[in-house]
Amino acid sequence: MISQNSIQQILSRIDIVEIVGSFVKLKKRGANYLGLCPFHNEKTPSFTVSASKEIYKCFGCGRSGNTISFLMEHEKYSYVEALRWLAARYNVEIEETETSPEYKQQQQVADSLYIINGFAQKFFSDTLFSSEEGQDIALSYLKERGFREEIIRKFQLGYNPEARDGFTRAALDSQYSLELLQKSGLVNVRDGNAYDNYRGRIIFPVHNQSGKVLGFGARIIKKNDKAPKYINTPENEIYVKSKILYGSYFARQAIDKADECLLVEGYTDVISLHQAGIENVVASGGTSLTPDQLRLIKKYTNNLTIVYDGDNAGIKAALRGLDLALEESLNVKLVLIPDGEDPDSYVNKVGAAAFNEFVRDNKKDFILFQLDIALKDAGNDSNKKSLVVNQVAETISRINKAEDFTRQQDYIKQCAEILRIEESGLHALVNKFIREKVNKEEQRASREQPYTEPIPGIDGEPEASPEALALFNRDEMHEQAMIRSLLEFGLKPWNEEQKVAEYIFKEIEENHLEELIDNRELVRVYQTYKAWYEAGLEPTARNFLYHDDLPMSSLVVGIMDFNHEISPNWKEHFEGHIATREELYASEVFSTLNYLKLRKIKRLMDENQRDLERTTSPEDQMMLVQTHQHLKQMEIELTKQLGTVIFR
Ligand code: UTP
Ligand code: MN
Repeated sequence: MISQNSIQQILSRIDIVEIVGSFVKLKKRGANYLGLCPFHNEKTPSFTVSASKEIYKCFGCGRSGNTISFLMEHEKYSYVEALRWLAARYNVEIEETETSPEYKQQQQVADSLYIINGFAQKFFSDTLFSSEEGQDIALSYLKERGFREEIIRKFQLGYNPEARDGFTRAALDSQYSLELLQKSGLVNVRDGNAYDNYRGRIIFPVHNQSGKVLGFGARIIKKNDKAPKYINTPENEIYVKSKILYGSYFARQAIDKADECLLVEGYTDVISLHQAGIENVVASGGTSLTPDQLRLIKKYTNNLTIVYDGDNAGIKAALRGLDLALEESLNVKLVLIPDGEDPDSYVNKVGAAAFNEFVRDNKKDFILFQLDIALKDAGNDSNKKSLVVNQVAETISRINKAEDFTRQQDYIKQCAEILRIEESGLHALVNKFIREKVNKEEQRASREQPYTEPIPGIDGEPEASPEALALFNRDEMHEQAMIRSLLEFGLKPWNEEQKVAEYIFKEIEENHLEELIDNRELVRVYQTYKAWYEAGLEPTARNFLYHDDLPMSSLVVGIMDFNHEISPNWKEHFEGHIATREELYASEVFSTLNYLKLRKIKRLMDENQRDLERTTSPEDQMMLVQTHQHLKQMEIELTKQLGTVIFR
């Protein structure tokens, strides 16, 4: 793990304009910088970068974040990868913290495996191109299949000679440990003798996202019924099959550009398509896609097109698990290659243009395709048919994100037609599945979440009406304004003895305002700030912006607005000079706190009112009325103090 010290060093050097500016052309506009948004298509720039706040926001698509989230989103880095990238850029030497011995051990094994694989890849490539056996047996085979030298080199293909231990000896001579060589799958030991696992096979290295070799697929050259066609690297510290998509290292940019990912079965399909200039392609190794692989695809595009050979028994297996793709809002299409060809042989036969055309014209929708197969299976059996109806309803119910609503409606219509059932019936069935799922999730959530005291007037309502929602949003805005003023002005003086932060802490504590903040994430920001402050730090929004607690960091990015509109009242008050928030911070702090106090009073009054309706005793009534008057008075005073400042 990267030490806190190194993280601080990296963060202190970040210049958001420089970093974002190396990916997006930015022009200075007032206090900010402006450019064309890299996250959506636009002709007039609405992507804004604030150098002083160290955040960006696109007023077109709404995307916002800090330098690190920019790198994560734009370059698809993980948080740690983004930090490492920045460290390299700013020449910050990264200091690693002590980690558990097991983790360290595992990292060391992983590092060694990468090194061994790198060595092996070079050995196999050299053998392929430079040895007589390699040229005669392997290179000639590859060329006969139509692979040109340039593509063979790009994918770093190789050859493991026939001799029992040609590779093993070379590796042991270079001091690699036998234990690790076995772990890598390159070497086997039988009866105390070490020998090459991939003897006489063509070697396909499998690369990770940064081009390092994770493992290999080794293909037999001569047809042999006794030996498997491919031998693959066994699972180890770095080769985790469920997370690997063959070719993703070479496909990344093309996928981005085409906004589509083609999925094929095999190594040779990927390579042949690349050779034909179709580069947005990855392979799954013939098994059904795993959630991790789907997530990898989803990082680059929402459009997945599966290209398989038509008479392949594996199609059904491949389609399994794709329901998950629907939940992730992936558009899944399917293309079946005809006449016993696979993508590799087909593109070699018809050429790139015809291949592309075929894919374009024969894309079938995944859900409709599945329905087709299931209906054929069911034949005339009405029991089976009703199962199919259920299945399809269940599948459609997974398309459940708000933005996918029209898609869902389309499917219901089309499937009802194919099934020859009433559209409204299918509709009801889909809704039933959605309800069931929501119920299950709610049950799970209520088991997981600690019980919290219901807040009168907000919780306990059966359903939020639009009015209640609007109300809620206004409350939330005031909460945000309060936290924003803490983050921005906390370190400024409040009076001679106190800083703003201390004043806010005191007010919140004395008036028990913390429990009034409905957005518990905001409470977390407040508590974290307070803990840091009390530990002697001088926290600002910056500490949150780069916090690795991403929900919290993105919440803070969200409330650090670019343009605060100044209420028209101010313009009237200060003719000519319009006071800035900076100058008016004291009154902003004061009024945001007042809003919370006001909310508290409102709630107390509601409660009081309810008690008043319930009680019959004249004495109690008397007391309650007095309380009401007292609260009312406080409300009037607070409102009077508030008056002028109104935030957007
Ligand atoms: P294929 O049998 O379609 O092989 O298996 P291929 O990739 O098209 O190879 P060629 O064109 O015949 O030379 C598809 C994928 O399934 C995995 C491999 O990843 C292969 O690329 N597979 C296949 C194995 O892992 N082991 C096997 O024995 C066979
Ligand atoms: Mn093939």
